[in-house]
Amino acid sequence: MRLVLLGPPGAGKGTQAQWLTERYGVPQLSTGDMLRAAVARGTEVGREAKGVMERGELVSDDIINRIVAERIDEPDCASGFILDGFPRTVAQAEALDGMLAARSQSLDAVIEIRVDKDALVERIAGRFACAKCGAGYHDTFKPTRLAGVCDQCGGTEFVRRKDDNAETVRARLEAYERQTAPLLPFYEARGLVRAVDGMQPIEQVTAAIEKILAQGR
Ligand code: AP5
Ligand code: ZN
Repeated sequence: MRLVLLGPPGAGKGTQAQWLTERYGVPQLSTGDMLRAAVARGTEVGREAKGVMERGELVSDDIINRIVAERIDEPDCASGFILDGFPRTVAQAEALDGMLAARSQSLDAVIEIRVDKDALVERIAGRFACAKCGAGYHDTFKPTRLAGVCDQCGGTEFVRRKDDNAETVRARLEAYERQTAPLLPFYEARGLVRAVDGMQPIEQVTAAIEKILAQGR
Protein backbone atom coordinates (compact mmCIF):
# COMPACT_ATOMS: atom_id res chain seq x y z
CA MET A 1 0.00 0.00 0.00
CA ARG A 2 1.60 3.24 -1.20
CA LEU A 3 -0.62 6.28 -0.83
CA VAL A 4 -0.33 10.03 -1.11
CA LEU A 5 -2.70 12.15 0.99
CA LEU A 6 -3.22 15.49 -0.73
CA GLY A 7 -5.09 18.49 0.61
CA PRO A 8 -4.65 21.98 2.05
CA PRO A 9 -3.35 22.66 5.58
CA GLY A 10 -5.92 21.47 8.10
CA ALA A 11 -7.78 19.22 5.63
CA GLY A 12 -7.24 16.17 7.85
CA LYS A 13 -4.25 14.48 6.21
CA GLY A 14 -2.49 13.75 9.49
CA THR A 15 -5.72 12.65 11.19
CA GLN A 16 -6.52 10.13 8.46
CA ALA A 17 -2.88 9.01 8.13
CA GLN A 18 -2.82 8.04 11.83
CA TRP A 19 -5.79 5.79 11.25
CA LEU A 20 -4.49 4.34 7.94
CA THR A 21 -1.26 3.42 9.69
CA GLU A 22 -3.13 1.28 12.21
CA ARG A 23 -5.50 -0.18 9.64
CA TYR A 24 -2.94 -1.22 7.03
CA GLY A 25 0.20 -1.61 9.16
CA VAL A 26 2.31 0.78 7.10
CA PRO A 27 4.05 3.89 8.47
CA GLN A 28 2.89 7.49 8.16
CA LEU A 29 5.57 9.55 6.44
CA SER A 30 4.81 13.15 7.37
CA THR A 31 7.43 15.55 6.04
CA GLY A 32 6.02 18.20 8.40
CA ASP A 33 6.65 15.92 11.42
CA MET A 34 10.14 15.04 10.13
CA LEU A 35 10.99 18.72 9.76
CA ARG A 36 9.59 19.61 13.20
CA ALA A 37 11.71 16.82 14.71
CA ALA A 38 14.78 18.19 12.90
CA VAL A 39 14.03 21.70 14.22
CA ALA A 40 13.65 20.34 17.77
CA ARG A 41 16.98 18.47 17.51
CA GLY A 42 18.70 21.52 16.00
CA THR A 43 20.18 19.58 13.06
CA GLU A 44 21.45 21.33 9.92
CA VAL A 45 18.15 20.57 8.13
CA GLY A 46 16.25 21.88 11.15
CA ARG A 47 18.23 25.13 11.22
CA GLU A 48 17.50 25.69 7.52
CA ALA A 49 13.82 24.78 7.79
CA LYS A 50 12.88 26.68 10.97
CA GLY A 51 12.41 30.20 9.59
CA VAL A 52 10.81 28.95 6.36
CA MET A 53 8.20 26.97 8.31
CA GLU A 54 7.49 29.86 10.66
CA ARG A 55 6.73 32.02 7.60
CA GLY A 56 4.42 29.33 6.19
CA GLU A 57 6.51 28.88 3.07
CA LEU A 58 7.77 25.62 1.59
CA VAL A 59 11.16 24.18 2.49
CA SER A 60 13.43 23.59 -0.55
CA ASP A 61 12.72 20.60 -2.76
CA ASP A 62 16.33 19.39 -2.38
CA ILE A 63 16.10 19.04 1.40
CA ILE A 64 12.66 17.42 1.30
CA ASN A 65 13.50 14.97 -1.48
CA ARG A 66 16.63 13.90 0.38
CA ILE A 67 14.84 13.17 3.66
CA VAL A 68 12.06 11.23 1.93
CA ALA A 69 14.49 9.18 -0.17
CA GLU A 70 16.37 8.19 3.02
CA ARG A 71 13.19 7.42 4.92
CA ILE A 72 11.60 5.10 2.33
CA ASP A 73 14.64 2.86 2.44
CA GLU A 74 14.10 2.07 6.12
CA PRO A 75 12.88 -1.49 6.81
CA ASP A 76 9.42 -0.47 8.06
CA CYS A 77 8.64 1.01 4.61
CA ALA A 78 9.24 -2.27 2.77
CA SER A 79 5.54 -3.07 2.39
CA GLY A 80 4.40 0.50 1.85
CA PHE A 81 3.78 3.92 3.39
CA ILE A 82 1.30 6.77 3.68
CA LEU A 83 2.78 10.01 2.39
CA ASP A 84 1.32 12.91 4.39
CA GLY A 85 2.40 16.36 3.16
CA PHE A 86 4.66 15.08 0.38
CA PRO A 87 4.88 15.69 -2.54
CA ARG A 88 3.94 19.36 -2.38
CA THR A 89 5.41 20.68 -5.63
CA VAL A 90 5.54 19.24 -9.13
CA ALA A 91 9.33 18.94 -8.74
CA GLN A 92 8.79 16.79 -5.62
CA ALA A 93 6.25 14.63 -7.47
CA GLU A 94 8.75 14.09 -10.26
CA ALA A 95 11.45 13.22 -7.72
CA LEU A 96 9.05 10.75 -6.08
CA ASP A 97 8.44 9.13 -9.47
CA GLY A 98 12.18 8.63 -9.81
CA MET A 99 12.54 7.21 -6.28
CA LEU A 100 9.72 4.71 -6.83
CA ALA A 101 10.89 3.69 -10.31
CA ALA A 102 14.39 3.02 -8.97
CA ARG A 103 12.85 0.65 -6.40
CA SER A 104 10.39 -0.96 -8.86
CA GLN A 105 7.52 0.49 -6.82
CA SER A 106 4.45 2.56 -7.71
CA LEU A 107 1.64 4.52 -6.07
CA ASP A 108 -1.73 2.84 -5.47
CA ALA A 109 -3.67 6.10 -5.21
CA VAL A 110 -3.60 9.80 -4.44
CA ILE A 111 -6.38 10.61 -1.98
CA GLU A 112 -7.51 14.22 -2.31
CA ILE A 113 -9.22 15.52 0.85
CA ARG A 114 -11.49 18.44 -0.13
CA VAL A 115 -12.39 21.02 2.50
CA ASP A 116 -13.81 24.58 2.28
CA LYS A 117 -11.34 27.34 3.07
CA ASP A 118 -13.33 28.71 6.05
CA ALA A 119 -13.36 25.32 7.77
CA LEU A 120 -9.57 25.00 7.43
CA VAL A 121 -8.87 28.03 9.59
CA GLU A 122 -11.27 26.79 12.29
CA ARG A 123 -9.65 23.36 12.28
CA ILE A 124 -6.12 24.68 12.52
CA ALA A 125 -7.00 27.15 15.28
CA GLY A 126 -8.42 24.35 17.49
CA ARG A 127 -5.72 21.77 16.88
CA PHE A 128 -3.44 20.38 19.60
CA ALA A 129 -1.38 17.22 20.06
CA CYS A 130 -0.08 15.02 22.86
CA ALA A 131 3.47 16.09 23.75
CA LYS A 132 4.43 12.50 24.58
CA CYS A 133 3.01 10.36 21.72
CA GLY A 134 1.99 12.94 19.11
CA ALA A 135 -1.69 11.88 18.91
CA GLY A 136 -3.69 14.71 17.31
CA TYR A 137 -6.82 16.35 18.77
CA HIS A 138 -9.17 19.30 18.28
CA ASP A 139 -10.82 21.50 20.92
CA THR A 140 -14.27 20.98 19.35
CA PHE A 141 -14.07 18.20 16.75
CA LYS A 142 -11.84 15.68 18.51
CA PRO A 143 -11.41 16.39 22.21
CA THR A 144 -9.65 13.91 24.49
CA ARG A 145 -12.14 11.46 26.05
CA LEU A 146 -11.03 12.50 29.54
CA ALA A 147 -10.27 16.23 29.86
CA GLY A 148 -6.52 16.84 29.87
CA VAL A 149 -5.52 13.19 29.37
CA CYS A 150 -4.30 11.66 26.07
CA ASP A 151 -6.54 8.78 24.89
CA GLN A 152 -3.55 6.91 23.48
CA CYS A 153 -0.84 7.11 26.13
CA GLY A 154 -2.35 8.78 29.20
CA GLY A 155 0.01 11.75 28.78
CA THR A 156 -1.12 15.02 30.34
CA GLU A 157 1.00 17.52 28.41
CA PHE A 158 -0.19 18.94 25.12
CA VAL A 159 1.37 21.20 22.50
CA ARG A 160 0.14 23.59 19.82
CA ARG A 161 2.13 24.21 16.66
CA LYS A 162 4.02 27.46 16.24
CA ASP A 163 2.83 27.85 12.63
CA ASP A 164 -0.86 27.54 13.59
CA ASN A 165 -1.41 31.31 13.88
CA ALA A 166 -3.67 33.35 11.58
CA GLU A 167 -0.87 35.06 9.61
CA THR A 168 1.12 31.89 8.95
CA VAL A 169 -2.00 29.91 8.10
CA ARG A 170 -2.80 32.48 5.38
CA ALA A 171 0.69 32.03 3.92
CA ARG A 172 0.36 28.22 4.07
CA LEU A 173 -2.96 28.34 2.23
CA GLU A 174 -1.40 30.56 -0.45
CA ALA A 175 1.53 28.19 -0.82
CA TYR A 176 -0.93 25.33 -1.22
CA GLU A 177 -2.90 27.09 -3.97
CA ARG A 178 0.18 28.21 -5.85
CA GLN A 179 2.57 25.29 -5.47
CA THR A 180 0.63 22.18 -4.41
CA ALA A 181 -2.76 22.39 -6.16
CA PRO A 182 -1.03 21.88 -9.57
CA LEU A 183 -0.33 18.31 -8.42
CA LEU A 184 -4.00 17.46 -8.94
CA PRO A 185 -3.90 17.70 -12.75
CA PHE A 186 -0.45 16.03 -12.62
CA TYR A 187 -1.88 12.92 -10.91
CA GLU A 188 -5.33 13.13 -12.56
CA ALA A 189 -3.62 12.65 -15.91
CA ARG A 190 -2.54 9.24 -14.62
CA GLY A 191 -5.93 8.32 -13.22
CA LEU A 192 -4.59 8.15 -9.65
CA VAL A 193 -6.70 10.79 -7.89
CA ARG A 194 -9.61 9.71 -5.66
CA ALA A 195 -11.42 12.67 -4.06
CA VAL A 196 -13.16 12.47 -0.69
CA ASP A 197 -15.46 15.04 0.89
CA GLY A 198 -13.38 16.20 3.86
CA MET A 199 -16.22 18.36 5.23
CA GLN A 200 -17.83 15.28 6.79
CA PRO A 201 -17.09 14.22 10.38
CA ILE A 202 -13.73 12.45 10.86
CA GLU A 203 -15.21 8.93 11.01
CA GLN A 204 -17.14 9.45 7.77
CA VAL A 205 -14.04 10.69 5.95
CA THR A 206 -12.28 7.57 7.22
CA ALA A 207 -15.13 5.37 5.93
CA ALA A 208 -15.00 7.08 2.51
CA ILE A 209 -11.24 6.41 2.25
CA GLU A 210 -11.69 2.82 3.36
CA LYS A 211 -14.32 2.31 0.64
CA ILE A 212 -12.01 3.72 -2.04
CA LEU A 213 -9.15 1.48 -0.93
CA ALA A 214 -11.38 -1.59 -0.79
CA GLN A 215 -12.50 -0.97 -4.38
CA GLY A 216 -8.92 -0.73 -5.57
CA ARG A 217 -7.92 -4.14 -4.22
P1 AP5 B 1 2.65 20.03 7.55
O1 AP5 B 1 3.01 19.57 8.90
O2 AP5 B 1 2.58 19.04 6.44
O3 AP5 B 1 1.33 20.86 7.63
P2 AP5 B 1 0.12 21.10 6.60
O4 AP5 B 1 0.17 20.53 5.24
O5 AP5 B 1 -0.05 22.57 6.67
O6 AP5 B 1 -0.99 20.26 7.13
P3 AP5 B 1 -1.50 20.24 8.56
O7 AP5 B 1 -0.69 19.34 9.41
O8 AP5 B 1 -1.70 21.65 9.05
O9 AP5 B 1 -2.97 19.69 8.32
P4 AP5 B 1 -3.56 18.24 8.15
O10 AP5 B 1 -4.20 18.16 6.80
O11 AP5 B 1 -2.59 17.16 8.51
O12 AP5 B 1 -4.73 18.34 9.21
P5 AP5 B 1 -4.95 17.56 10.59
O13 AP5 B 1 -5.22 16.12 10.34
O14 AP5 B 1 -3.92 17.92 11.59
O15 AP5 B 1 3.70 21.13 7.07
C1 AP5 B 1 4.13 22.19 7.92
C2 AP5 B 1 5.22 22.99 7.21
O16 AP5 B 1 6.38 22.14 6.95
C3 AP5 B 1 4.86 23.57 5.84
O17 AP5 B 1 4.21 24.81 5.96
C4 AP5 B 1 6.25 23.68 5.18
O18 AP5 B 1 6.95 24.81 5.62
C5 AP5 B 1 6.96 22.43 5.69
N1 AP5 B 1 6.80 21.26 4.81
C6 AP5 B 1 6.23 20.07 5.14
N2 AP5 B 1 6.26 19.22 4.09
C7 AP5 B 1 6.87 19.89 3.08
C8 AP5 B 1 7.17 19.55 1.72
N3 AP5 B 1 6.83 18.35 1.21
N4 AP5 B 1 7.80 20.48 0.96
C9 AP5 B 1 8.13 21.69 1.46
N5 AP5 B 1 7.87 22.07 2.72
C10 AP5 B 1 7.23 21.18 3.53
O19 AP5 B 1 -6.35 18.23 11.02
C11 AP5 B 1 -6.43 19.57 11.47
C12 AP5 B 1 -7.37 19.66 12.69
O20 AP5 B 1 -8.71 19.41 12.26
C13 AP5 B 1 -7.08 18.62 13.78
O21 AP5 B 1 -7.25 19.24 15.03
C14 AP5 B 1 -8.12 17.52 13.55
O22 AP5 B 1 -8.49 16.90 14.77
C15 AP5 B 1 -9.27 18.28 12.93
N6 AP5 B 1 -9.97 17.50 11.90
C16 AP5 B 1 -9.43 16.63 10.99
N7 AP5 B 1 -10.39 16.11 10.18
C17 AP5 B 1 -11.56 16.67 10.59
C18 AP5 B 1 -12.94 16.54 10.15
N8 AP5 B 1 -13.28 15.73 9.14
N9 AP5 B 1 -13.88 17.28 10.80
C19 AP5 B 1 -13.54 18.11 11.84
N10 AP5 B 1 -12.28 18.27 12.29
C20 AP5 B 1 -11.30 17.57 11.69
ZN1 ZN C 1 -0.33 10.60 24.00
